[in-house]
Amino acid sequence: MSGIILRRARPGISVLLGVTYVLIVVAVLTIITLSVTAYLGNYFLSVRLKEQRKALESCAAELLPYAESSDPDTLYTILSAHATACNGRLLLLNEQGRTQVDTFCRLNGTVPRAPEIERVLTGQTDADVGYHHLTLSDSYMTKNNDYLPSAGSCWTAYYTQALVSSSAGSGGVLVLAAPVQDIVDQVSSVTRWIVLFSVLFTALVALITFYVGHSMTLSIRRFNRAIAKMSAGDFSVRVSENEIAEFGDLAKAFNMMSEKLENLDASRSQFVSDASHELKTPLASMKILSESLLTQEDAPVELYREFMSDINSEVDRLSLVINDLLTLVKTEKDTEALMLTSVELGALIRSIVDTVKPLARRKHITVSYEYRDVCVRADELRMQQLFTNLIDNAIKYSPENTTVTVTLSASVNHAVVTVADQGIGIAPEHLPHLFERFYRVDKARSRQAGGTGLGLAIVKQIVDQHAGTIEVKSELKKGTVFTVTLPLDSGKELIP
Ligand SMILES: Nc1ncnc2c1ncn2[C@@H]1O[C@H](COP(=O)(O)OP(=O)(O)OP(=O)(O)O)[C@@H](O)[C@H]1O
Ligand SMILES: [Mg+2]
Repeated sequence: MSGIILRRARPGISVLLGVTYVLIVVAVLTIITLSVTAYLGNYFLSVRLKEQRKALESCAAELLPYAESSDPDTLYTILSAHATACNGRLLLLNEQGRTQVDTFCRLNGTVPRAPEIERVLTGQTDADVGYHHLTLSDSYMTKNNDYLPSAGSCWTAYYTQALVSSSAGSGGVLVLAAPVQDIVDQVSSVTRWIVLFSVLFTALVALITFYVGHSMTLSIRRFNRAIAKMSAGDFSVRVSENEIAEFGDLAKAFNMMSEKLENLDASRSQFVSDASHELKTPLASMKILSESLLTQEDAPVELYREFMSDINSEVDRLSLVINDLLTLVKTEKDTEALMLTSVELGALIRSIVDTVKPLARRKHITVSYEYRDVCVRADELRMQQLFTNLIDNAIKYSPENTTVTVTLSASVNHAVVTVADQGIGIAPEHLPHLFERFYRVDKARSRQAGGTGLGLAIVKQIVDQHAGTIEVKSELKKGTVFTVTLPLDSGKELIP
């Protein structure tokens, strides 16, 4: 329960992606907005400064010849014309900083204070500028300032200009007070548009990332559901492969895996049912035989003997099936436990042929063997099982007076063993299933011959474990040829 709660408390991929992208976009847009507004503000102010400075310089130049005469009317006329042109208010201050002329006629005789006036008066510079955020109640400059709104505030620039070079030791200061609120308003309006665009863009980014994240998690959720179904034992589950590249590949791999598992599960069920059937059949016959003996009170000894011999052969059959099953399971499990040694294949097959010869003789079957000395790196016991099964089959499924031919040769890298018979042959439709467990072409005939249907499954497993191959060619009523190739023992020289 707590596990589920914990998992739900964690944010999903779409949320994490969305938040990350939105944070990145907000940070980038904030930097862009700040840079753009700062650049625009500086640009407009510098253009305005250049214009006003020029106007102030030309006013100073025009004023200079009259400054000595101190005729206030002439000075006022010149200043007024320039103030109107500059869209501002002009003040002429003497060397002590006292106002001689004010185009608004309000501050005559007063000493206005501002850092940019001080710097020019004290000779630190010839020209200066300062920006002030003024309200109605602010200093002298704003009193009755026409440019100031009746309420609220206004950004104003004070441009100052020395009348004579301060190094010359005489002169005064010309002060132009002009509003720059229009520039501030323009920059604010640009900022508002950028912010509006940023908000819309951020919302769009959030929507897109949420959509992408959601479709990604949708695929993951689909996989989750499929895996849950598989865990519950349903291997028929498949996921759509129509996904974005990585998920498409994952879906293909997943489907391949579930198909293999499904096949494996089916063959496991088949194996269990086949194995139980094979074990049940001899048990059932034994039960019938023993019961019929038990129910007959005066059964003759001959009948006892006959039934007991039947029971004995059923026990043999049972132990044969169990032995084969054990061999199959053991070879399946012990791939790494192979006792690999250098095996003289020629001698090994010779001893198998010698062992089966009495059996062949009983059916008047000739077993011929052609070989050369070939060494393979293999598990000797398994090699014995492999070739015994093949030769045993060849004899078992051949009629009397035929020949079974075993040959052993070598190619560049492989030992090649063929087991050919002139027996009943196998129809083509059976060939693909020949190496399956319990697969028998003719169940009745095979059972009669004592077969369990596990021999070739064991053969295939052993060949696979030794990195070899096995092929079968057969023609009905003409015969069958099994060809096994096994890698040569690379440490041994091939004897020509
Ligand atoms: N040489 C052959 N000629 C004709 N049919 C064959 C030959 N070898 C195998 N078969 C067919 O293939 C089937 C499977 O063979 P396999 O060796 O696996 O089982 P089996 O011989 O019936 O039993 P086991 O070998 O386990 O005692 C056989 O039942 C038989 O029908
Ligand atoms: Mg067999």
